[in-house]
Amino acid sequence: MRRLVPPGAVRMPWADAVPWADSGPLADAGGRAAAGSAAPAGSFGIVGLGRMAQALLLPLIADGVIEPASVRAAVASEASARQLAASLDLAVSTDASQAWRCAAVLLAVKPQQLQAVASFAASLGQLGPAGSSPPLGAGSGAAGPLAAGQPLVGGLPLAAGGERRPLLISVLAGVRLERLQGLFPGWCCVRAVPNTPCLVRQGLTGLAWGADLDPQRRDWVRLLFARVGEVVELPESQLDAFLALTSSGPAFVALVVEALADGAVAAGLPRLQAQHLAHRTLAGTAALLHEGDLHPGQLKDMVSSPAGTTIAGLRELERAGVRSALIEAVLAAAARSRELG
Ligand SMILES: NC(=O)c1ccc[n+]([C@@H]2O[C@H](COP(=O)([O-])OP(=O)(O)OC[C@H]3O[C@@H](n4cnc5c(N)ncnc54)[C@H](OP(=O)(O)O)[C@@H]3O)[C@@H](O)[C@H]2O)c1
Repeated sequence: MRRLVPPGAVRMPWADAVPWADSGPLADAGGRAAAGSAAPAGSFGIVGLGRMAQALLLPLIADGVIEPASVRAAVASEASARQLAASLDLAVSTDASQAWRCAAVLLAVKPQQLQAVASFAASLGQLGPAGSSPPLGAGSGAAGPLAAGQPLVGGLPLAAGGERRPLLISVLAGVRLERLQGLFPGWCCVRAVPNTPCLVRQGLTGLAWGADLDPQRRDWVRLLFARVGEVVELPESQLDAFLALTSSGPAFVALVVEALADGAVAAGLPRLQAQHLAHRTLAGTAALLHEGDLHPGQLKDMVSSPAGTTIAGLRELERAGVRSALIEAVLAAAARSRELG
């Protein structure tokens, strides 16, 4: 079987055990997958190539972790497919059947789109891969033959033992593993909560494992997300809180930075300079907190001299309830994440 995995890439050791048709040309002259070609071993499917999936994929491609020719991405609209295929030089289609035939799939649609996406994947399963089932038991380490009438999911036969099951990584806010496993019964499921700073390799990703996820696949997922930032494994019950802080947090912090810059403009600085200085203040403060291993209260007290400028500003922030507003913002985001699931 041909593998499209670049040197130094994060390999999928289970890919050979996931049987599918390995026929047809893998790539056109431009390196992109030819229409109708089967997903090769080591292919990476992406269902929903929006902001979050791109924030993950682009640095992984730039660093050679994922080979563009091995990506089978699906989006909803022809306009997005055309635009992304041209700008990223990837195989992007509105037909998700190729993506669903990969050994690992990143699911990154909106939670509201999940049901439609799952129905499509299930319909593929009933049809079988590319209209014809692969020979059962094909592939090294394959599990035993299937029981008669056992369904196909995502074009891949289900097998007892689990070693032939492909991997589904869902980044959908709030959507529980139990629901994912119900919608995608032939898949090993992982919930991942990445954030957009993954785009600059400063990300944070929370991971919660589905039932029966073997060590091989766990290692693969850890390695993948570690290439774009820090990985935190935590109980699924804590993922909504994790998301509220780390995924919604960049927007909250950006709002604070924007408001600080507005304040500097009100105080007399030119806009561009105020923005630049606000960014640098954020970056410097984050570095000081991190490298100095400081509690935020310690840093605040370090900067606040008696009857000085900083304490005058802090007094205004407390009067306006900024601290409470930020606490409520994180709580609201966590509650919304639970609702979406
Ligand atoms: N953004 C974040 O910071 C963040 C953080 C953590 C988790 N998440 C989660 O990531 C997921 C995606 O969020 P996002 O911000 O990236 O959303 P987005 O930019 O709107 O992307 C959604 C993508 O899904 C595609 N899509 C919709 N229906 C589809 C279908 N039936 N088949 C295939 N593709 C389909 C869309 O295609 P079109 O462009 O053609 O419509 C688009 O590419 C959400 O579930 C969110 O909860 C996001």
